[in-house]
Amino acid sequence: MIKINENYLKLQASYLFSDIAKHVSAFQKAHPEKEIIKLGIGDVTRALPRACVEAFHRAVDDMAEDATFRGYGPEQGYPFLREKIASQDFQARGADISADEIFVSDGAKCDSGNIQEIFATDINVAIPDPVYPVYVDTNVMAGRTGDTDNGRYEKFVYLESTKENGFVPDLPGEPADLIYLCFPNNPTGATITKDRLRTWVDFARENKAIILYDAAYESFIRDDSLPRSIYEIEGAREVAIELRSFSKTAGFTGTRCAYMVVPKNCMAFAGDGEKYALHPLWLRRHTTRFNGVSYPVQRAAEAVYSEEGSAQVRELGDYYLKNAALIRQEVAALGFACVGGENSPYIWVDGKTDSWEFFDLLLEKAGVVCTPGAGFGKCGQGFIRISAFNSFENVQRAMSKIRDSL
Ligand code: MLT
Repeated sequence: MIKINENYLKLQASYLFSDIAKHVSAFQKAHPEKEIIKLGIGDVTRALPRACVEAFHRAVDDMAEDATFRGYGPEQGYPFLREKIASQDFQARGADISADEIFVSDGAKCDSGNIQEIFATDINVAIPDPVYPVYVDTNVMAGRTGDTDNGRYEKFVYLESTKENGFVPDLPGEPADLIYLCFPNNPTGATITKDRLRTWVDFARENKAIILYDAAYESFIRDDSLPRSIYEIEGAREVAIELRSFSKTAGFTGTRCAYMVVPKNCMAFAGDGEKYALHPLWLRRHTTRFNGVSYPVQRAAEAVYSEEGSAQVRELGDYYLKNAALIRQEVAALGFACVGGENSPYIWVDGKTDSWEFFDLLLEKAGVVCTPGAGFGKCGQGFIRISAFNSFENVQRAMSKIRDSL
């Protein structure tokens, strides 16, 4: 008798964003005349930067000629892309990361789920609350939790982000081996200072833990005092893996390209206490299960680092940040407290009522889709997340509809 992985039975029936999409499409079916403006899932709406599109076209033309055609590429990514990533995203900011520590992939969502495969199942996982649900669900699937009790999985160490701690969790008071951190944060939009991040790096070093640092929203940072990478913190190379993505940076949500950094001196332990470098383990996993991102996509990603490309990427980020500023302003004028939206495309609004009720109210009365905070964890109850990914005109219309309906 073939048996299923019963850990899947512990999961909620569907993934948060699929759940919301179903909800919205049922509403749309019932009210086909209603205009819906989506400020829910963080999906970009603007075209790829011109420099990326041109590089993409040129690379497709390469594939059309025998002389320039490419078959399987290096699983870790082409050196032309990895070298630019290492020099411009890290070395230029004083972070000592080399090209062979970069693993190009098809998305930070996949990376954040896949990486836990190289860790034991009986480790203690520290999960922020609220949190990007993928960190939770992938660890549940792998069997690192018990059942849910009052909306929380047994065995997880929850790192609460609340008004009281400025939405940056405090260090855990119990053992934590794999620690998920995301800054600028999804869903709250909160940022972390170098000093606060240093306390996490020190904690990981003292406790032989690993931090999985999700920096997918780093390109929205405009405050130069904030860290863009965890490797700006001394000692982080030994205890941190970083995730980056071209999705939100350069509009690649439909194109798919991201990367993960696994420094060569980042170590973890076998059951007998022997120390092992994570880089060869991840290289083994990556080369076994993955054949690389397509050549044209990697050429398009490389163009992000050209002079025109980086100016266009900056402009793209500024566009969404202008939307975010408008959302913040309107939300405040309506009398709601919020965080985020300054160095982040997400605004976390204290709705002062049940998250799903507020979600329904905005959908039904204003035709605006947001994300209910409770979907990101217990601490998200009472909040909603508004995403700045849409056209400025749509954000203006959405905010005026919200104003009229409340
Ligand atoms: C979100 O809305 O939280 C993001 O779009 C999710 C993702 O990047 O997968």
